[in-house]
Amino acid sequence: MFNKPTTDIIRSRFSCRTYQERPIAEETQARLEEYLASPHEGPFGNSPRFKLVAAAEGDSKALRGLGTYGFIKNPTGFIIGATREGEKSLEDFGYVMEEIILWATALGLGTCWLGGTFNRSRFAQKISLEEGEIIPAAISVGYCAKQPARVDKVVRDAAKGDRRFPWDKLFFKGRFGIPLGRDEAGDYATPLEMLRLGPSASNRQPWRVIKEGKVWHFYLQRTKGYPGRVFNVLLRLADLQRVDMGIAMSHFGLTAEELGLEGAWAMDEPDIEKPDDLTEYVVSWRT
Ligand SMILES: Cc1cc2nc3c(=O)[nH]c(=O)nc-3n(C[C@H](O)[C@H](O)[C@H](O)COP(=O)(O)O)c2cc1C
Repeated sequence: MFNKPTTDIIRSRFSCRTYQERPIAEETQARLEEYLASPHEGPFGNSPRFKLVAAAEGDSKALRGLGTYGFIKNPTGFIIGATREGEKSLEDFGYVMEEIILWATALGLGTCWLGGTFNRSRFAQKISLEEGEIIPAAISVGYCAKQPARVDKVVRDAAKGDRRFPWDKLFFKGRFGIPLGRDEAGDYATPLEMLRLGPSASNRQPWRVIKEGKVWHFYLQRTKGYPGRVFNVLLRLADLQRVDMGIAMSHFGLTAEELGLEGAWAMDEPDIEKPDDLTEYVVSWRT
């Protein structure tokens, strides 16, 4: 799908929150726009839509009013996404928008998912939000000011891995609580590792996967008290942990595809006991 191995792109992606002031090169903007304009459908059949709003050379008017409450410095562009509310639409949104993040990463751009820290009404204007649509999240995009040096790649990988839950908290065999070793994951060790390196809102990592024979069951384990009702209502936040789930599915699915591992998504809840009522079944990958 990309011009580089998906695993390399996933490993090199990180949340960039400070950008260089130079606008995104015209040719790069054009390639990004072309990709955004192509049809996007998530594994559950929803088709979100996207728009790039970027500053042109010597002219930053395009971004006027697109505030991000101070967390993001000098962004030179935003990708705004909109979706209709519906069954699994937020998971599909996460899946497809993460493909866009990886596409932008492959083009040499820095990105950051923005779930709650942007000016909703201005973004809605820019994408001409329609009745029945919501903007679950946006992406800031541009040349990152802190492009980590290439020599640091190994160190960076390790650092990123350290900010993620270890395997035994995320991946299980047969039922919750029985850890799945990397060796037991077989060909799927890499898709699972790529899932683990994925971004999630506030780095909460709400995804859990259970291997049952040749099937991989995906569960959403919500974070207790997150993000909190008051916060949620005040900021009109979407259910970002469902978006996280879609992101996890994309890292897993794209990596499996690249490795030539055949499989398909199916919703068929197994008879596996869930640890608490914060945990819900989402989907399975059948090989
Ligand atoms: C759905 C979603 C929403 C996010 N919203 C924000 C945000 O509003 N502001 C921000 O600075 N980072 C945001 N992030 C970035 C996460 O904090 C970040 O992905 C996580 O801490 C892991 O770090 P990494 O992306 O550098 O690997 C968001 C990430 C996701 C997946």
